[in-house]
Parts: sequence; structure tokens; C-alpha cells
Amino acid sequence: MGKFTKDKRVQRNSSYSKQDIYYRKAKEDQFRARSAYKLLQIDDSFQIFRQVERAIDLCAAPGSWSQVLVKKLTEKNYLPSESCRIVSVDLQEMAPLDHVTQIQGDITKKTTVDEILKKFNYQRADIIVCDGAPDVTGFHDIDYYIQSQLIVAALNICLMTLRDNGIFVAKIFKGSDIKLLYSQFKLFFNQVYFMKPKSSRASSVEYFIICLQYTPKISTLNFHLYTFLKEIEQAEKQKQQEIIDQETEKEQSKYYKFITCGDLSGFDEN
Ligand SMILES: C[S@@+](CC[C@H](N)C(=O)[O-])C[C@H]1O[C@@H](n2cnc3c(N)ncnc32)[C@H](O)[C@@H]1O
Repeated sequence: MGKFTKDKRVQRNSSYSKQDIYYRKAKEDQFRARSAYKLLQIDDSFQIFRQVERAIDLCAAPGSWSQVLVKKLTEKNYLPSESCRIVSVDLQEMAPLDHVTQIQGDITKKTTVDEILKKFNYQRADIIVCDGAPDVTGFHDIDYYIQSQLIVAALNICLMTLRDNGIFVAKIFKGSDIKLLYSQFKLFFNQVYFMKPKSSRASSVEYFIICLQYTPKISTLNFHLYTFLKEIEQAEKQKQQEIIDQETEKEQSKYYKFITCGDLSGFDEN
């Protein structure tokens, strides 16, 4: 019974994919995933590849964003090149791609950053993109937390590997506090935008943050984007509860009047 249900779901998903225009287009254009069009559409709106010679693709497998990077750098005549121009990182092994140096590693680990720097011969990157997504557990808070940790890790990598005025693009989940994210990213970038490309399914909770002109006003990341958000939410809830308690007390005091009586020198009998 379980197998039957799963097979039906796979069948439904695959026919759903086949009807999808970007799925078919990706097959035609030989992209490894339909995600390629998200990055291309972000570029249509923000021209993120105008001054790009070196790029880092975080959470890159199966590799369609890396393919877009290869295409863009080739158009600019930076590829083929003697030196390393594109570094792609993922936990999973990825099929090789011409002109892409791959690192199989975890973007939250310092050793991965060291490896990236080594591959670039300690030169900084012009753009960092991150399409990271955790294996979804189905528990909203946990998925949200793990996703947020990927953004924090990617931002940390920016601090160590992105050149001044460089660009950062990352996937974020709906439900993030936009105002808070905006003000936090503004500590590092002069311009910060949010976008949901047309090719991102309407049913998907993903959208993207596009950060231009890397100009860090602080040099270390001493806060956790979403942990901070939770603390604010908690403080806000506590404040609201205090107001409710005060109002309730005021209301009650209108109806109950306490009258002092008896002699306070001894105990009450009851
Ligand atoms: C949506 S896929 C990326 C698709 C890719 N941009 C493309 O166009 O082909 C998300 C990837 O994030 C990777 N990932 C998740 N957590 C990671 C981590 N801590 N370090 C490196 N990669 C991670 C997963 O292995 C997965 O391949």
C-alpha cells in the first residue's frame, strides 16, 4: 500500500514536471536543472554578471547555476582560462563540468573556505551565489533554521572571499522577516533587493535576496540572522502579554473593590 502511494506520487510529480515549461526548456538548453532560469532571470533584472571574472557557486549540485556561470564568463571571454575562475561547492558529488573547479564539502565549515581561497590563489571573487536548501524534514521550524544557517554560512564566506563592491545572491525562505534581513544585509552591501523570478514556482516558499556593492561596515559576523529574529519575536510577545495583563487588571479593578476589615493584630479564624 505504502509503495503504491509513493509510486503514484512519483508519477504525479513527473507528469507535473513534464508539463512545466522551464523543465522542458532546461532539457532543450541542456541545463542540469530548471533552476538555471532563476539565476538568468535575476541577471535580466540586475545585470549581476557585468563585471565578473571569478565566481563562487555555493550548494551547487547538480550544477545548473554553475553552467550559467560558465556561459556568462565564456561570453565575456574569461573562459577558457589558465587560472581557476569558477569554484562550486556542495555536500554531494557533482558530475564534472568544464571550467568549473569542484569542492565536495560543507559550506558551514571553515576548512571549505580555506579550500576555496586556495583554489583562487587567494584572490577574491566578484560574485558569490548560493542556492542552498537543506533536506526538508517537514518540521517548519527546523527547516527554517537549517536554511537560515546556510545563509549565515554564505555571508561568512562573503566576508572572507568577496571583493569590495562584489555581488551576493542567495535563496531565502518565505516567512523570513524582510525588514530585519534588509537591515542586516545593509551592514555589508550598499544595495539589497528581494525577488521571486518567474521561473520559481508560485507554490514554492523560496525567493531570492540580491545584494550589490559589497562594502562591509563590520568585519565579523557576531549575530545570527534568524536567532536574532526569534529573540525579537519573543520580546515582542512578552511586551504584548504585559500590556494584556495590565489591561485585564485595570478592567478587574473596576468590578472588584477590596475592603479592609477586621483587626490585623491576630490571625483570621477562617
Ligand atoms: C536546490 S539544490 C541546488 C541546485 C543548484 N543551484 C543547481 O542549479 O543545480 C540545493 C543543494 O544544496 C546543497 N547543500 C545543502 N546544505 C549544504 C551544505 N551545508 N554545504 C554544501 N551544500 C549544501 C544540497 O546538497 C543540494 O545539492
